Amino acid sequence: MPDDNRVFIFDTTLRDGEQSPGATMTREEKVRMARQLETLGVDIIEAGFPAASEGDFQAVSAIAAAVKTPIVAALCRALAADIDRGFEAIKKAERRRIHTFLATSELHMVHKLGKTPTQVLDMAEAAVRHAASKGVEVQFSAEDASRSDPAFLVAVCERVIAAGATILNIPDTVGYAQPAEFADLIRHLRATVRGAEAVTFAVHCHNDLGLAVANTLAALHAGARQAEVTLSGIGERAGNASLEQVVMGLNTRPNYYNLTTGIVTEELFPSCRRLSGIIGQPIPPYAPIMGRNAFAHESGIHQHGILKDRRTYEIMTAENIGRKGAVVVLGKHSGRHALDAKVKELGYTITDDELLVVFDAVKQLADRKQRILDEDIEALILEKVLRRPDRYALQYLSVHCGNVELAPFAVVEMQVEGETKRHYSAGSGPVDAVFNAVCQAVGRKPDLEEYQINAITGGTDAQGEVTVRIRDGAATTVGRGVHDDVIMASTLAFINALNRLAKKEEERICPQPQL
Ligand code: KIV
Ligand code: ZN
Repeated sequence: MPDDNRVFIFDTTLRDGEQSPGATMTREEKVRMARQLETLGVDIIEAGFPAASEGDFQAVSAIAAAVKTPIVAALCRALAADIDRGFEAIKKAERRRIHTFLATSELHMVHKLGKTPTQVLDMAEAAVRHAASKGVEVQFSAEDASRSDPAFLVAVCERVIAAGATILNIPDTVGYAQPAEFADLIRHLRATVRGAEAVTFAVHCHNDLGLAVANTLAALHAGARQAEVTLSGIGERAGNASLEQVVMGLNTRPNYYNLTTGIVTEELFPSCRRLSGIIGQPIPPYAPIMGRNAFAHESGIHQHGILKDRRTYEIMTAENIGRKGAVVVLGKHSGRHALDAKVKELGYTITDDELLVVFDAVKQLADRKQRILDEDIEALILEKVLRRPDRYALQYLSVHCGNVELAPFAVVEMQVEGETKRHYSAGSGPVDAVFNAVCQAVGRKPDLEEYQINAITGGTDAQGEVTVRIRDGAATTVGRGVHDDVIMASTLAFINALNRLAKKEEERICPQPQL
């Protein structure tokens, strides 16, 4: 008997999420993220859009081969060629789904597709029939459903159900819906569509008005049973509904929703941290559930209440979502076994050689910093092992700056494709001087579009985390660097971004075609 109260979590971090500016991931990073999503317990991983580029196809194939439990979904336009390509990409997955979509609002049909409603109905039916003929599960999305004529939406749903779709997704593509209205739409479809009882209704909400999570929860309350979400809510424009907020909404209010998911909530924080490390975008301090401040209590009255009983000002526990807090884990005298155990506890699998690299880095950091925290170790794993630079590597850096007359200048020595290059450059400040010298060494000069600096932990000896976004022609990438010297962190972030740019060019991850 299917459990009517079970909500399926469809994670689209690697597809819709990856479409957001600065969130492009390499194939290797996507596979690593997919493994973490499996550990998190998501039901479906939307691995990408295989027809978009050779790089996307390869990434979806690699994910399909890497995960076992979740269904792997490939996004395809309502075109036979896209569906063939999508099917090819997910061939190796244990459990497969083709996700095909077509716009159903008048605005999209007239201005984007140039098609009549009858043509759209025929195209949707043909696409679903073609996908179903491959013997896989088929999901159909009526793009811009929330702005579509409800009667036409009913007709579309009935045609695709008859053609073999078993999951019907009702997206709020442009974040236009309001919670009560969106819930009414789901109720209306469930009550009106012929065959509705045999399919699962899904929702996919964007956050343009900040209502993506509210709309998703309202739709689940009204009977939708699949939530399409992303970690930290990354996605097109203002993003998608955030996985952690939807899941914790359901978990925190069981009496109201009476719905369950298969998510291992203790993996939520490690998953969002890992994504943040990979895409180089820090979790904002005010982010619900995941932000640094989410469990911090500043006011005296609140602190007093918390000390008596945490439930006075906390509606969930930090432990429940996998935040262990600022626990001191290792110091100067800790051994390799302690580090090994900590790396595993943080959810990373690394080889013995890689453990040695991290161990050396921890020892060096312990010479300069008294307390080594979980966040420090995680930053070092990402920096030293998982993001080891390939094409460009820094060997030596010396920077001169201060309030003297001489302009700031930097000397860098780098390995550039196996060759040692040494360059000197001045700049308007120390970071500018370093970036100029690095550009000379690597022989390219991208624009620096964004530069952000944060302290990973508290204290004056905290490690600095720098995130940069660079652009070279049409290609943009982000880079992240962590060091207790902020100029070093800036240099590492810049070199990391250059390496990602090179990697992207190698993997031919091209801009997506128009959806
Ligand atoms: O926002 C949207 O409508 C989409 C579809 C492709 C599901 O991302
Ligand atoms: Zn979307």
